[in-house]
Amino acid sequence: YMTLSRICCIGAGYVGGPTCTIIADKCPDVTVTVTDLSQDRINQWNSDDLPIYEPGLDEIVRRRRNKNLFFSTDVKKAVIEAELIFICVNTPTKNYGLGKGRAADLKYVEAAARMIAEVANQSKIVVEKSTVPVKAAESISNILKANQRRGVQYQVLSNPEFLAEGTAVNDLLNPDRVLIGGEQTKEGREAVESLCWIYSHWVPRENIITMNTWSSELSKLAANAFLAQRISSINAMSAICEMTGADVTEVAHAVGTDTRIGNKFLKASVGFGGSCFQKDVLNMVYLCECLNLPEVAAYWQQVININEYQKRRFANRIIESLFNTVTNKKLAVFGFSFKKDTGDTRESAAIYVCKYLTDEGANLRIYDPKVTDKKIFSELTNPLMCEDPERVKELVTTYPDPYEAANGTHALVICTEWDQFTTLDYSRIYQKMLKPAFIFDGRLILDHEALMKIGFQVVTIGKKLQRSNVHRSFSTSSQS
Ligand code: NAD
Ligand code: UDX
Repeated sequence: YMTLSRICCIGAGYVGGPTCTIIADKCPDVTVTVTDLSQDRINQWNSDDLPIYEPGLDEIVRRRRNKNLFFSTDVKKAVIEAELIFICVNTPTKNYGLGKGRAADLKYVEAAARMIAEVANQSKIVVEKSTVPVKAAESISNILKANQRRGVQYQVLSNPEFLAEGTAVNDLLNPDRVLIGGEQTKEGREAVESLCWIYSHWVPRENIITMNTWSSELSKLAANAFLAQRISSINAMSAICEMTGADVTEVAHAVGTDTRIGNKFLKASVGFGGSCFQKDVLNMVYLCECLNLPEVAAYWQQVININEYQKRRFANRIIESLFNTVTNKKLAVFGFSFKKDTGDTRESAAIYVCKYLTDEGANLRIYDPKVTDKKIFSELTNPLMCEDPERVKELVTTYPDPYEAANGTHALVICTEWDQFTTLDYSRIYQKMLKPAFIFDGRLILDHEALMKIGFQVVTIGKKLQRSNVHRSFSTSSQS
């Protein structure tokens, strides 16, 4: 192994921060500097109030910070000093120009590469950790080599990250695998070995997979596309269940016990969210179109279409159940983050459900244990999807307490599967609601029988509950 003593990371976000914190913790002899252009973010990483919420992360940051883990806005200094540089900048979906709405925007990755080339006065290993389209490492390499100083050599590796938010610490500590792609040359293999050396501090060698750069880049897009496709598959089943009397949880159980299929990631929901799935699947769709593979592009596009259908369908069921109008009705929304145990709201299904309901003139009372008011309003008034921010501000109120949020409402809408929603006192909530009181469980987390006993009208994804159909104007009585 070639050992390393100094590494740095460009981008102190959901990936750069936690990944480098774990590296610093597991490699006490390596100095790790995490950098970002945003002074705000760096200040937060250096404070007691970290910029992201991840269970277990605070403690490890506190243990390593200012020992061998540093957070800084001096990106150039960190790059000059480091032997290995992780690029962990954001690669959002492009919202302009060629490939708008689908292609990954690589401007931050390119800016990082140009900056490295500008300041590096020694050879560097540059590790692409951001999720990128296939061949991005080659572009990075071209930029670096075209601007290379005398005596400076670059090796570019692909090392995609598989952590999921809310479980980042555990995912980083016990990864199913670490994936490293590199050039199939002597220098390329040496660079791969150096990065292996870092991970081998805590990851068993057999769990570190090495391969060529393009395979590694594509594997990341493929993994996310497969995961997203499972969710769209079970959500497509949920629509059939609601029409027939089959129960999607039972179907998922029956299907998932086939070991060839497996039981994970088969939870029907109001739709997947998060910063990755939609972006990466669209990125793949765009890639296929560029490669002149329209059938493959259409196949993956359908995963996104079903997800949009699911979010819309859930909102429509709410409206339909509430006697076909939610105008001026009060609805409590429980959960705004895209999944539990994170304060991240990027592409959260809750945003879309709230948008559809406010478009109908509903008054929303939103409660989330980790998402700030500021973030909720900035998502709901985002100019990309909101035409009238003033109206949204009139219709939406946030609450620090779920009981208060539910007070005097016509309905509760569960958008995120936070554990605490399963232990609330629903009898108490019911007392203070308008009747008939409805619950729309978009995450299948509540005890529906118990709720119906209290008196609630319960509507959930992928299951037809008898009493919830009482108010439907039509009836498909395939259920007793
Ligand atoms: P993020 O937006 O939280 O963080 C990116 C950070 O990079 C921002 O703080 C931004 O200010 C900074 N940045 C941008 N350009 C910079 C520059 N030139 N110099 C210094 N800093 C710069 O994004 P994220 O969620 O951490 O995602 C980063 C990448 O990792 C993306 O490509 C994403 O697809 C991928 N990824 C994300 C996850 C996830 O769960 N969030 C998981 C796996 C992979
Ligand atoms: C995902 C990938 O899991 C991770 O490997 C990759 O590195 C980044 O993208 P993340 O988006 O953080 O991670 O969370 P994930 O647990 O995958 O959930 C994504 C969305 O799918 C959430 O909205 C979640 O609620 C939803 N989901 C997940 C379902 O609706 N049903 C499921 O069975 C699983």
